[in-house]
This record gives sequence, structure tokens and C-alpha cells, in this order.
Amino acid sequence: MDLTAGIASVREEFARRLQSLQEGDAERLRIDFLGRKGLVAALFAQLGQLPKDDRPQAGSLLNALKQELEEQLGATRTGAAAPDSAGGAAVDVTLPGDPVPVGAIHPVNLVLGQIKDIFNRLGFSVYYGPEVETDFYNFGALNFQDDHPARDMQDTFYTGDNLTLRTHTSNVQIHAMENLKPPIRIIAPGRVFRNESISARSHCQFHQVEGLVIDRNVSMAELKGTLAHFVREFFGADVKSRFRASYFPFTEPSAELDIYWGLESEADYRITKGTGWLEILGCGMVHPNVLKAGGIDPHKWTGYAFGMGIERTSMLKWGVEDIRHFFDGDLRFLRQFRS
Ligand code: PHE
Repeated sequence: MDLTAGIASVREEFARRLQSLQEGDAERLRIDFLGRKGLVAALFAQLGQLPKDDRPQAGSLLNALKQELEEQLGATRTGAAAPDSAGGAAVDVTLPGDPVPVGAIHPVNLVLGQIKDIFNRLGFSVYYGPEVETDFYNFGALNFQDDHPARDMQDTFYTGDNLTLRTHTSNVQIHAMENLKPPIRIIAPGRVFRNESISARSHCQFHQVEGLVIDRNVSMAELKGTLAHFVREFFGADVKSRFRASYFPFTEPSAELDIYWGLESEADYRITKGTGWLEILGCGMVHPNVLKAGGIDPHKWTGYAFGMGIERTSMLKWGVEDIRHFFDGDLRFLRQFRS
């Protein structure tokens, strides 16, 4: 047989097979052409029948063919010369794709977003302060006496000499007074830490939103009105709430705001300590000593402040019966807040 014609037909046949190559068939093609018993090997076998003088030239033609086919195959495998879509690998672009798991916003952030929205509409801006704090900002400037029990090691995490993890966001009140000029109207969200034993209703870390308003002639009535508005916006118009007189070193007078949670189950009993009411925030008129510590003249300015627990608030909003859910990272819990 004429070797040149053989080479031409093998080359043609290879091109045809390559054209209609299906995914995963490249190896079959290689074996058929370049394998030990393949078509190229069969051509090489014919070399012996040629006249001795013709063999070198025919040999180099065959080598060239072999190299050419190897290169084309290699290119197919790396995808550089993928078969065209008409006859090529079948990809059905109309099939739905594999679902990509989408995350959910953490409930703490979700609630924080809603709280920010409500206060933004009332003209509050958002202000941030540090989580690691000196005794001055966390306690001293807030009118805590040196022997106040909150300073006790049992409540406060100390990270170094005179440094604490803040036990509340009230530290931001002082930073805001130092850095902003009154009138001041801010909320300050963030993480706080307390050395408490962990239970269904308390944790060693949680989140608060502080509020601070300083202006001329700010009154307790304004504080109550603002918070009552917040509660209706956040929980709905028919929520039951109450103000209760309280004490904080940094406000005078002071109050706490409770929301009615209910007393229907054993869990309700544990969460509300048997009262049915759950406290969500502390508040009051900023103590003159605190204004002074923040560099503001209490004869010219008055103010109110409040601090609410975000987890507490979320528990009420969604009926979450255990604060620990917020920190466990259990996806079955977190996925329920996908909106
Ligand atoms: N810092 C207080 C707490 O953590 C809450 C509070 C803030 C009370 C501002 C009054 C005014 O309990």
C-alpha cells in the first residue's frame, strides 16, 4: 500500500473523529490512533516493506504525523481546541444550576438594623466606641464610686491594669460628649461583656444599643415619649410595656422599661423569673456629674440616656426562649432568620 496515501487517510480519519469527539472519548481516540496497536503504529509497521532508501524519508513523515496527532489530542484535553458546540460535548444550558447555599443575616444584626432604622427616623445618628476600655470610661466618668459592686471581679472582665472589657455601651456616652458638640443625638450599638454564669437568660457576652440625647431643656417626658414610640414601632401597637423606677449611678432619675412576655409555660417562668415581664432597657436623665466628666456644662445642657439589650429584645420579638441560641452558631436556628 502507498504509505503517503495511508498517512493522508489516517490524518483525515483523525480529523473527523476529533470533530465529533464526545466528552470523555479522548482516551479512546488516543488508543485508536496512537496506541500500541493503533493506526499510526500500523503505518510504522509498513516501513519494513519499503525499499531501504525510501525508509528514512517515510519514517520522518510518520514521526511528523504522530507528533501532529499527539499535539491535537493534547490541545483537546486542556480544552484549547474544544470541539465546537454543534457536534461537541452535550451541555444542556437550560438545566437549572446546582443550588448555592445562601446565608442568613444573624438575628442580632437583623434586630440592630431595625432599631437603627427607627432611631434614624427620629434624628439619631450612629456612633461607635471601643470594646476594651479604661476604668474611667466604663465606670469613673459614669459616676460609679470606687467601691461600687459592679467594679467587682465577679462582674467585670479585667484584661490588664486598669483595662476592662466594657460591661455596657454607656462608655460611649463619655466618648461622644468629648468628641461631639451638643446638641448630641446618637445611638451606639456594640458588644458588651460580663463575668456572669451562662443560663437561658444571661450570657457573658451580649449586645446593647446605647442612646444619648443632650440638648437644652431635655426632659424626662421626652425620654418616655421617645422610648414608648420605639416600643410601638418595634413590637407593634398592642405591645404591653411599663416604666419602672430604678437606679443607675449615671442617671437621675432612672427607670427601666419592661415588656410583657407572658407566663404560659415553664420556660416563660424561667425567663421572666415568674413575673411575666422582661426588662429590655435601662434609662434616665444624664447625671450632672457625668456631663461634667464629659466636659459639658450641666447648667447649660441636660440630657437623657438609655441602654437596651439586643438579645433580650430579639427574644421577645421572635419568642426565642434561650439567649444561648444567639452564640451557638447552630445553623438550624440561624436559618430561620433568612428573609
Ligand atoms: N448601662 C446600663 C446597663 O447596662 C443601661 C443604661 C444605659 C441605663 C443608659 C441608663 C442609661 O444596664
